Amino acid sequence: MDLDPRFQQIYSRKPTLRVRAPGRVNLLGEHVDYNDGMVLPVALDRAIYLAATPTGDGIVTLQALDLGETASFCVDQVAAKVDPQGRPLPGWAHYPAGVAWALLEAGLEVPGAQVAYTSQVPIGAGLSSSAAVEVAFAALWRATGGWLVDNLNLARLCQRAENRYVGVACGLMDQFASACGVEGHALYFDTRSLEWEPLPLPPETVIVIADSGVRRSLASSAYNERRQACEQAVEILRSYLPEITALRDVSPPEFAAYSTFLPPVVARRAEHIVKEIARVGSAVRALQRQDAPIFGALMYAGHASLRDLYEVSTPELDALVEIARGLPGCYGARLTGAGFGGCTVNLVKEGNAEEFIQGLSAAYQQRMGRQAQVYLCRASAGVEVKPAD
Ligand code: GLA
Repeated sequence: MDLDPRFQQIYSRKPTLRVRAPGRVNLLGEHVDYNDGMVLPVALDRAIYLAATPTGDGIVTLQALDLGETASFCVDQVAAKVDPQGRPLPGWAHYPAGVAWALLEAGLEVPGAQVAYTSQVPIGAGLSSSAAVEVAFAALWRATGGWLVDNLNLARLCQRAENRYVGVACGLMDQFASACGVEGHALYFDTRSLEWEPLPLPPETVIVIADSGVRRSLASSAYNERRQACEQAVEILRSYLPEITALRDVSPPEFAAYSTFLPPVVARRAEHIVKEIARVGSAVRALQRQDAPIFGALMYAGHASLRDLYEVSTPELDALVEIARGLPGCYGARLTGAGFGGCTVNLVKEGNAEEFIQGLSAAYQQRMGRQAQVYLCRASAGVEVKPAD
């Protein structure tokens, strides 16, 4: 397990366990995971690191090193979202507390613990820092609670925590990627059958992340609104296609035939989903042929669709994609994650990576008057738990 310099800070506190859970970047298949679609995320080489000492008192003490804040809760009062003195838990503590709640609800033991944690995954940047926190805590409690659940099902428990306790109607992609990541590979994940397969990236390509510097809040109503529009589309289309249960079941020709029956905004949202799911299918075939240009073209098309149909882009993300498109060696670029700010993901020819990073940063600064963080990302392994020696 990598020793992030900040992890040393925790390590000096003499924990008994340490956990690393990565963030994720999604290459294609955006907003389709709550429509039973297929996604192609990559587990990042940036992660949440936590160090923990189990306690026998049923109290979980959280030390968020990056925020410089501490909070605690009694495991048997976790549903009330309060600390042992009855004060409301701060928002950031809802992620670990939500995981404890979901595990208890599933009949799994959650021992007390003192936990310190730090994140290399920027918060609110669309790289799933919250899913990484959830997966890290779930893996910690799996290691100390004496129960066995595989990583995929651990991810499902974390999703439940976020849906029911934190209140974001997210899909399963982020928690899945953090739990099941495979070094050097993208993860093809079918969110309906829950089957998945690691796929190698095209040879001589690298993934570059560009952080627009604009932060977003996923809990903001926009994400849940998008999800409702998709549900409304299914409800209306079911009058014409009675066998469908999700937009995954609507083919592009069927959509073209019946979309006129949808209100205009709902039609735009659903068109993105139907075509994005088809794009993932094409992208997987491109990966199997090791065809970086076609894969990249699908990324550009995905961005245009998120911008014009799903309407979750921002001027900063659009600028990053447009600039990237004009730089040598760039196969494809698009916003990644929920949108409304955050990052773009770029597929770049390995030999052009340095020049691409410099060029994108400089042109973005010039055009938008903002600094973008642009860096290489290597596909990493999913969650890991180790004794602290
Ligand atoms: C967020 C959610 C995911 C997914 C993406 C959009 O990251 O947590 O479940 O819906 O947005 O693809």
